[in-house]
Amino acid sequence: MSSPKKLTPLSIPLLFIITITITSTSAKTFRCTTSGATCQSVVDYVSPNRTTLAAIQSLFTVTHLRSILGANNLPLNTTANTTVAAQEKVRIPFPCICRNGTGVSNGRPVYTVVPNDGLWHIAAEVFSNIVTSVEIQAANYIPDPDLIKVGQNLTIPLPCSCDMVGGEAVVHYGHEVAAGSSIEGIALQYNVPQETLMQLNNLTGPQDLKAQDIIDVPLRACSSKVSNNSLDYPLLIPSNAYVVTANTCVKCKCDTAMNLMLQCEPAGINSSCPLIQCHGSQNLLLGNTTSSGCNATTCSYAGYNTTTIQTMLDSVSTCPAPPLAAAPPGPGSSATTLNGWRVVIFINAVMFCLLFV
Ligand SMILES: *[C@@H]1O[C@H](CO)[C@@H](O)[C@H](O)[C@H]1NC(C)=O
Ligand SMILES: *[C@@H]1O[C@H](CO)[C@@H](O)[C@H](O)[C@H]1NC(C)=O
Ligand SMILES: *[C@@H]1O[C@H](CO)[C@@H](O)[C@H](O)[C@H]1NC(C)=O
Ligand SMILES: *[C@@H]1O[C@H](CO)[C@@H](O)[C@H](O)[C@H]1NC(C)=O
Ligand SMILES: *[C@@H]1O[C@H](CO)[C@@H](O)[C@H](O)[C@H]1NC(C)=O
Ligand SMILES: *[C@@H]1O[C@H](CO)[C@@H](O)[C@H](O)[C@H]1NC(C)=O
Ligand SMILES: *[C@@H]1O[C@H](CO)[C@@H](O)[C@H](O)[C@H]1NC(C)=O
Ligand SMILES: *[C@@H]1O[C@H](CO)[C@@H](O)[C@H](O)[C@H]1NC(C)=O
Ligand SMILES: *[C@@H]1O[C@H](CO)[C@@H](O)[C@H](O)[C@H]1NC(C)=O
Ligand SMILES: *[C@@H]1O[C@H](CO)[C@@H](O)[C@H](O)[C@H]1NC(C)=O
Ligand SMILES: *[C@@H]1O[C@H](CO)[C@@H](O)[C@H](O)[C@H]1NC(C)=O
Repeated sequence: MSSPKKLTPLSIPLLFIITITITSTSAKTFRCTTSGATCQSVVDYVSPNRTTLAAIQSLFTVTHLRSILGANNLPLNTTANTTVAAQEKVRIPFPCICRNGTGVSNGRPVYTVVPNDGLWHIAAEVFSNIVTSVEIQAANYIPDPDLIKVGQNLTIPLPCSCDMVGGEAVVHYGHEVAAGSSIEGIALQYNVPQETLMQLNNLTGPQDLKAQDIIDVPLRACSSKVSNNSLDYPLLIPSNAYVVTANTCVKCKCDTAMNLMLQCEPAGINSSCPLIQCHGSQNLLLGNTTSSGCNATTCSYAGYNTTTIQTMLDSVSTCPAPPLAAAPPGPGSSATTLNGWRVVIFINAVMFCLLFV
């Protein structure tokens, strides 16, 4: 907390702030073992005051409002002046980097010190305890926490990770524990095995889970067909979120209800975008699906570079597979084989097509 307010002439370059040292809660760092790895992460921010999306975007130094809209599955036409109520939770997307066994936000957000600020105030009352004052102090190599300068820029080290979980690429989500929630409840809500949650967060039992702690919840991401030379590779989008990519031309969403298959379509927010058509198919645009019998063919997004947006045709067949073996002939030969038929889904990358802008 800052000291009782005194009128400090702005010409005095240094502002001394007396902070009440409060035993900081345990560091909420997440394990991140692949040194130097970078990825996208999300963290919960519970705004202490009534505010707007624009103010939150600015506080967390998020380049585009649409990143916040996508992380929260809010409509793409939501305006920046939209009100966020006090205590409302907003998911903040940010870049993560692994260093020395833990993950931290990569250079963002940057907070500029204002008069009468203190590290405790910044950590607790501005960033709602997503970080501790000790973590901000360490990240900015501040020798004396009581001595920060007005105008000084502080990088705020948000907790995150880029580790694979169970051999799968995931999006690590810093979830703020609500009062009265349980490990089982969180596991169920986010469809993560309870043991995984306990292991990742070093929880031994319910007593280790405290309200307002930030815990690492690995969200499953949609499988994407984006090629490894695409500028947005690997395009990991967690369930119930979307991302606008390919120079604002493509919007891809991940829906748990759609079997975690990424669905992309023209974003429709930039009139300079080309018509994204699948080469080799008549009238099939990105996101379109045609059906022929029991086959469905979709024009899927496959990545982009500075000159082209790549698409590919995805065929999904729900044709019944022919029976593998004839059923033993019996007296009641009525359609016995039908029961043995299975619906087999083949997902074939039929062809790549390139769209020249
Ligand atoms: C935003 O888009 C939705 C459809 O996606 C539309 O129903 C709504 O009216 C739009 N809102 C504004 C403010 O344009
Ligand atoms: C919010 O911004 C939109 C345009 O960006 C404007 O039309 C609207 O009046 C604003 N609403 C408020 C409450 O300021
Ligand atoms: C890495 O962590 C170890 C122990 O946690 C610490 O001694 C060391 O200074 C750290 N290195 C860097 C570069 O932060
Ligand atoms: C919320 O309001 C309190 C009290 O006015 C203030 O100290 C704090 O900085 C505000 N936090 C944000 C994020 O605006
Ligand atoms: C702090 O960051 C702001 C915005 O990026 C910049 O304008 C300002 O010059 C920076 N201040 C210092 C002391 O680096
Ligand atoms: C896990 O927690 C135990 C006790 O709570 C602690 O001794 C240990 O250092 C922790 N390990 C990690 C990796 O955080
Ligand atoms: C990219 O993918 C191709 C096959 O799709 C593979 O041959 C190549 O090794 C991959 N490159 C990298 C850097 O992973
Ligand atoms: C709109 O799309 C064009 C063509 O892809 C691109 O060059 C431009 O940067 C986009 N505009 C914005 C604001 O991203
Ligand atoms: C194909 O996609 C475009 C762009 O999303 C859409 O406007 C059009 O209705 C779609 N056509 C069909 C047949 O689905
Ligand atoms: C469905 O697709 C498969 C291959 O993916 C093809 O062999 C089959 O003939 C197609 N059936 C129809 C009705 O188009
Ligand atoms: C973009 O990708 C296309 C197709 O993969 C390739 O032909 C083109 O050379 C690439 N352009 C650049 C600048 O990498």
